[in-house]
Amino acid sequence: MSQNETPLFTGLVEHAKKNPIQFHIPGHKKGTGIDPEFRNFIGDNALSIDLINIGPLDDLHQPKGMIKQAQDLAAQAFGADHTFFSVQGTSGAIMTMVMAVCGPGDKIIVPRNVHKSVMSAIVFSGAVPIFIHPEIDNTLGISHGITIDSVEKALEQHPDAKGLLVINPTYFGISADLKKIVDLAHTYDIPVLVDEAHGVHIHFHDGLPMSAMQAGADMAATSVHKLGGSMTQSSILNVKEGLVSPNRVQSILSMLTTTSTSYLLLASLDVARKQLVTRGYELIENTIQLANYMRDKINEIENLFCVGREILGTKATFDLDPTKLIISVKDLGITGSDAELWLRETYNIEVEMSDLYNILCIVTPGDTKKEADLLIAALSKLTEEVADLSESKSVPEVLLPDIPVLALSPRDAFYSETEVVPFDESAGRVIAEFVMIYPPGIPIFIPGEIITEENLSYIRTNIEAGLPVQGPEDAELHFLRVIKEHRAIR
Ligand SMILES: Cc1ncc(COP(=O)(O)O)c(C=O)c1O
Repeated sequence: MSQNETPLFTGLVEHAKKNPIQFHIPGHKKGTGIDPEFRNFIGDNALSIDLINIGPLDDLHQPKGMIKQAQDLAAQAFGADHTFFSVQGTSGAIMTMVMAVCGPGDKIIVPRNVHKSVMSAIVFSGAVPIFIHPEIDNTLGISHGITIDSVEKALEQHPDAKGLLVINPTYFGISADLKKIVDLAHTYDIPVLVDEAHGVHIHFHDGLPMSAMQAGADMAATSVHKLGGSMTQSSILNVKEGLVSPNRVQSILSMLTTTSTSYLLLASLDVARKQLVTRGYELIENTIQLANYMRDKINEIENLFCVGREILGTKATFDLDPTKLIISVKDLGITGSDAELWLRETYNIEVEMSDLYNILCIVTPGDTKKEADLLIAALSKLTEEVADLSESKSVPEVLLPDIPVLALSPRDAFYSETEVVPFDESAGRVIAEFVMIYPPGIPIFIPGEIITEENLSYIRTNIEAGLPVQGPEDAELHFLRVIKEHRAIR
């Protein structure tokens, strides 16, 4: 089959064209039973292929027909031996990767700044995390990837680990020397699992960091929906044979996946793959040029700094994806969250995310010079306004969360007897829940860690800045759930 074909999307359209009489779910039956306002908005075409795993349409849980053909084309496109489609986002694919290599008590080497799905999988599987501390960028207030030295040390100390997980590239588009990391792990026969949530496009342009499959990694969970043109929630899991079993991957992914898989999401993966293979290079090339133009213009604005290749060359910053614009607003004396809000309210511009010091904007083939110039003009105006409003705003000191000590395995902590204590009185206790800012979804605390006053203060600063702190049962964060301490009986 050729990469110009879309067996799954075409198969669904052909099926819908036959206009079958449907006595099966979904009960809206081609949209006729759905709320008319929604139907008019979303359109009959979309509803006509919102179908289910009846015989002719294959089954994601055991694909043999059009889904299998679409997955095989994707595997060829990404240089994998097997590709599995995920309708559980990259979170589902990441949980599958971890659970495919780890069982209770098994060690897995992971950077501490992983997405919460990695930690969830560690809780579910009962694996023991061996943390590698990511390199911290004290100027930008963000963490990068892991270094070869730290991987080497972790492998030497834990040659019995069942896997090494790497984030490549990071949310901010920075990548490590993945090829070297993979080669190193393979000398210990340890499989490398790549969180490639922010890197679907890198496989299709040689001016971008090396992709997981190009580097020889064993598995990669890749968000096609983020930067590859498929619909939100649709991702893929690429697998290379050797150190992992594709059959086990299929069964675990199936265990974690709804039985009512969305064919709209699946079809969007099929067409995204076609576009990436057939037009990806050209589209990405234009995107890189647009992003570089924006970076240069933003850097001409006083007190703004848009990160470029000058940050490369450290042990953790091997390469970068220029389509990510990390814009530091620290020197304006405002937070990233202030800038995000101002852009929303004044210019109707939505950024990808903000933190205490930066905003992150992503540039994709969906952008044109028109949007680029609007953002540049808005940022110029923001700078002028901030200067007018307050001469005295001072540049904040960069604050980054400590990495707390892990006192209990995340699973033991999660399933322990717990109690809630006031947030302000929780320092020194062992936490039993996650606390993170989403996005990016990197935990400040994971279950089992000892709460520190510094990290409580970091959380307070983020709440005050209006950033989305999430995770605890008490969404207001007045209380935290901690491991119950039993008083000694006298
Ligand atoms: C680094 C990283 N990994 C994994 C994920 C999870 O991806 P998804 O939202 O597709 O589940 C995200 C999402 O933001 C992420 O930033």
